[in-house]
Order: sequence, then C-alpha cells, then structure tokens
Amino acid sequence: MNLSVEQKQPEPVVLVKPPSTPPFYLMRSLSDIRNDLAGYMLRMRETFGPLVRVHSVLRKIYLVNEPEYIQQVLVSQGDNFTKDVMMRLLRDHILGEGLLTNLDRDSHRRQRKLLAPAFRKKHIASYAEAMVDYSERMAAEWKPGETVDIAQEMMRLTLGIVSKTLFDADVDDDAADIGEALTQLLEYFPKLVSPLAPLRISLPTPGRKRLFDNLQRIDDTVLRIIQEHREDPDKHGSLLSLLLQVRHEDDGSGMSDKQIRDEAITLFLAGHETTANALAWTWYMLGKHPEEWDRMAREVDDVWEQDLTPYEKFQKLSYTRHIFAETLRLFPPAHTIGRKSLESFSLGSHEIPGGSMVLMSPFVVHRDPRYWDDPNTFRPSRWEDGSTDNLPKFAYFPFGGGARVCIGEHFAWMEGVLVLATLARQWRPALIPGQDVQHQALITLRPKDGVWVTLEPRNNTGKDS
Ligand code: HEM
Repeated sequence: MNLSVEQKQPEPVVLVKPPSTPPFYLMRSLSDIRNDLAGYMLRMRETFGPLVRVHSVLRKIYLVNEPEYIQQVLVSQGDNFTKDVMMRLLRDHILGEGLLTNLDRDSHRRQRKLLAPAFRKKHIASYAEAMVDYSERMAAEWKPGETVDIAQEMMRLTLGIVSKTLFDADVDDDAADIGEALTQLLEYFPKLVSPLAPLRISLPTPGRKRLFDNLQRIDDTVLRIIQEHREDPDKHGSLLSLLLQVRHEDDGSGMSDKQIRDEAITLFLAGHETTANALAWTWYMLGKHPEEWDRMAREVDDVWEQDLTPYEKFQKLSYTRHIFAETLRLFPPAHTIGRKSLESFSLGSHEIPGGSMVLMSPFVVHRDPRYWDDPNTFRPSRWEDGSTDNLPKFAYFPFGGGARVCIGEHFAWMEGVLVLATLARQWRPALIPGQDVQHQALITLRPKDGVWVTLEPRNNTGKDS
C-alpha cells in the first residue's frame, strides 16, 4: 500500500557540527605544529577521533582522517575545494603557477592535460636507464667501510636523476646549485606556518632577503637551461624538451618561458625531495629489519642474473616494490595534504562551512588500526598475503588522489625500486648501531638527523661478504 511505501522513505539526514577541541586550542599548539605537524596530526586523531574541528578564532580548521571522507574531499566533492594557504605561499613566493601550486581549476586542468603524456608509463619507462645508470655511478663512488648519511646521498642521487631526465643535464654545478637553493627555501618555510605568515614574508628581514637571493639563483639557472634547449634541437628526450614542444589542443599555443620555468622548478622540487626521503626511510627500515634485507637482496641478485633491460628489471622486482610500498605507508613523504572549501559541505552527517581549511594525513590514516594489522610494524609481506586487498579507497594514499593526484607517481615507483635494487646489488648500507631516527615534518617527512650507515661491499652471490 502507498502508506507502507511512504513509511519506508529514508529519514532526512540531520546535519550536525563535527566534534571540536576546547577553545583556543590552535594558539596553544602552534609550536607543536611547527615542530612536527605529522606527530601533531597523529596525537589529534588519538585524542579526538578521525574528524575534529580545531578551535581557532582566525580560521576554521578541520582534521579529516577517515578514508571515506577523504575520498569525498579529494574526489567526489573535489570541485568544492582549492589548495590551502601553504600552497598559496609556495605559489606566490617560490614555484609560480606550476602544476602543484596552480589554484585555478580550469587552468590547472589545461596544464595537466599538456603535461600528462610525459608522465605516462610508456614515456617514463625510457627513464629507467638513467635511474640505473646514476645509481651505478653512486655505487662506484662509494668506498668500503665508509660512513655516510644515506639520506644526504639519496638527495644527491635523486637530484642527479631528476636533472638528467628533466633538463638532460649531468649532475654539475647547475643541478647542485638549484638543489641547494631549493633546500634552503624549504627550510625557511616552517617559519611561515603562522597566521602572521603573509605579513612576515612581506617584511624586509634577512630571512626574506636570503629567500629572494635563492630564488634569483634558481631563476637565472633554469631560464638559461631553457634557452640552451631552445637553441639546441639535439637535446631530445628530456621532460624539458617535451615541455618546449607541447601545444594546447584548443588554440595550438605553446608554453611561455615563464610557464616552463614554473613547471620545471615544480618538477625539480616535487620530483627529488619526496623520493629521496622515501628512499632514506627505506634504508633505515632495511637496516632495522635484516630479514627483509636478506629477502630483497636475494630477489635483486636473482633479477640481475637475467638478461633484462632496466625497465624489465623494475617489473620483476616485486618484493623490492613491497618494501618501498611499506615504507611509504609508515613514512609517507607528503605526510599531510591540505585543502580549502569554497562552499559549505557535508561529510556523513557533519556539516562544515565554506572557507574551512581541511587537513588530511596519510601519516595518520596509514597507521589506523581499523585498517592495518599491527599498524606500527614494518611488514612488507602484508602487500602479498592478501591483507591489503580489501582496504577501503584512501586507507593508503601516499600520492594523494583525485584531479590533483601526484603526476610523478609512476616515476617515483620506478625510481624508488631501481635505486634500491641497483645499490643493493653491490652494497649493504649497515645501520650504525643504536640509531633511533626521529622524523622532522617540514613540508615533507624527513629523517631528522639523517640516517647514518657504514658501507659494506657485497660479493654478489646472494650472500653478504
Ligand atoms: C615518493 C615520491 C612522491 C610522493 C610521496 C609524492 C606525493 C605527492 C602528493 C601526495 C601529491 C598531491 C598533493 C596534493 O594533493 O595537494 C603530489 C603532487 C604532485 N607531485 Fe608528487 N610525489 C612523489 C614523487 C613525485 C615525482 C617523482 C614527481 C615528478 C617527477 C612529482 C610531481 C608532482 C607534481 C607535479 C604534483 C602536482 C600534481 C597536480 O596538482 O596536478 N612527484 N605528489
């Protein structure tokens, strides 16, 4: 009967405000946030649950660490969000309108479409050789018994790889110069995690002067490299040469030098910092878990015995990939992803106003015991024993998601796996005993005082010498 049909109508959802911290919570936690945003996010999740409003007079801030809600923010309601204030500062003061910091939806889409072909698996495969080649060069430089900070070594290596693939430049003064200037810029950045950041950056302080001097160094170098590429048609194959050739579908226009500069610096920064940190954490985990090292070394020796191209090697190194995946779970370099809502929106039964800052943390969700058995344990075999098969979307999202998902994801997987394997074929980086490496959460999650190892040569028979 009609009546019974009416009775089955779902109840209208009553929207309620999400739980909130006590008043003035943000002011009290500012130094905590500046020192360790990832740790702060984890403590907030443990204290208040996966959705909480952080009370602040100046801003509406929500911490969202529920996979279903993250999916809504990044994907299904993605058009209602723009990037947060941090990205605005990065855009205005460092990166310009490159992909990462382009905040205009249409212009971002247009730009992403232009760059996408260069990052498809097929094109990225051609970089496998440079990845192996640069790792072999590092392996040839290392000395038996030498003690190194492998975090620094990974920074140097990924910088070399990105310079080669991006600029078709060998590691030379240019690359080192840009790398150093970018590192200094990132170190200045935590100072900007403050409601007074826009004011601070406009005052003529020594920090600001250094910032602008570094930017000038980067600009001069990148613009010169672009000019050299324009003048030398033989420079093929690099990402930069692709950027110079691409044309918009609609009007056939290419990119201006300013646009290419912005994209190049963005890729330079986004393409080496993150992967270097992920690799540093992986060596740390391998040092702490000798049984995982043994299994990876066996796989590497096995694969190297076969006559394969670098890309084919990458495809065969499945356990090495699990090791990298597990490190990205526990130590996701992009530990927190921020958005700002344009209009008010709802997450489940919770109503959240327009203009809110929404912070989502892979670092937190990747350690949520509801999704991960023994969440704090490094266990790469979880990626092959079926226990990760039925995870909800966004229980694991080291590369973000939706329209702004990392464009370099395939690049990063391939680089991570090939660097690990190529170095592990010849060397065992043995952790200096007693190290308890803490993290430092600047923009990326880094090992705080590096990861110190002694380099032990291997005899390449599957056993260590
Ligand atoms: C382990 C290594 C990496 C990690 C963990 C990582 C993580 C991420 C994440 C989480 C985002 C999304 C940020 C957001 O939504 O706000 C992102 C965006 C981006 N990444 Fe990566 N990334 C890595 C490596 C790379 C590499 C190798 C490249 C380039 C060669 C790259 C280039 C970019 C760019 C250009 C964006 C902006 C994409 C857009 O907004 O359209 N990343 N990355």
